[in-house]
Amino acid sequence: MTDRYAVIGNPIEQSKSPLIHMAFARVTGQDIDYGKVLGPLGEFAKTVDAFRAAGGKGMNVTAPFKLDAFAYATDLAPSAQIAGAVNAMKFEGERVHAENFDGVGLVRDVVHNLGCPLRGQRVLLLGAGGATRGALLPILAEQPAELVIVNRNVTKAEALAALGRQHQSGQVPVQGLGYEQLQGRQFDVVFNATSASLTAELPPLPASAFAPGALAYELAYGKGLTPFLKLAQQAGVTRLADGVGMLAEQAAEAFAWWRGVRPDTHAVIAQLTVPLV
Ligand code: ATR
Repeated sequence: MTDRYAVIGNPIEQSKSPLIHMAFARVTGQDIDYGKVLGPLGEFAKTVDAFRAAGGKGMNVTAPFKLDAFAYATDLAPSAQIAGAVNAMKFEGERVHAENFDGVGLVRDVVHNLGCPLRGQRVLLLGAGGATRGALLPILAEQPAELVIVNRNVTKAEALAALGRQHQSGQVPVQGLGYEQLQGRQFDVVFNATSASLTAELPPLPASAFAPGALAYELAYGKGLTPFLKLAQQAGVTRLADGVGMLAEQAAEAFAWWRGVRPDTHAVIAQLTVPLV
């Protein structure tokens, strides 16, 4: 029997998850089917119940349902608890196991695919929403020299910084700041985890924040040279990346969790890469 998986979201047409998971299934020889489910707004639980009743084994969850999935789960992994959101579910009888692989996917992409260890680096995270929440602990686990979270609404940045300090085992200094407080500070790795790129906006980041040799990483995927990446380029940054590798790596984590075999991501990343121009 072919095991069934799917991604649920609204809208869902744009999702690359079926393409990615079916490519993983081919290279690992796993007999699965992976589809798209358009979840009507307000009917997340009903839609997932129906998928499970039809024998579905697991789901990825995308906007706007990551919080609904958090509420729906019976067993939340620490990654999902800290992120306050779920992006992958595994169904076992009555149990709904839930994970959030976005943060580990991001770190794996940066460290393994881009060859940029975070250990000992000065890391800046732009934004204090869901994307930052998911990335927080996986970044801290790499033991950077420091982590600064910057946000227009400073209170949110401070709250996430406090969460990071509370949950990390190491001694990484974590600060929450406003953009104007970045004057005179430099960072080796700058992540744009704001939603600004979705509307082609530029976070008010001083170009001086990029240290020589810095990596500028846009978590959004497939938008080419976003205003953030353009700012980095104009500031002389040559290491530019978007979230295509993060997308592939979070999928690989989910695939390994469901199927017990971790697929190589290089071919999928090459296939989905949109040039940064
Ligand atoms: P997500 O779950 O995608 O992170 P979110 O929780 O709505 O979405 O958070 C969006 C983040 O992007 C917020 O940190 C927001 O900043 P504020 O909290 O100050 O509103 C940030 N953001 C959105 N547009 C931005 C812009 N043009 N410049 C800077 N930050 C922006």
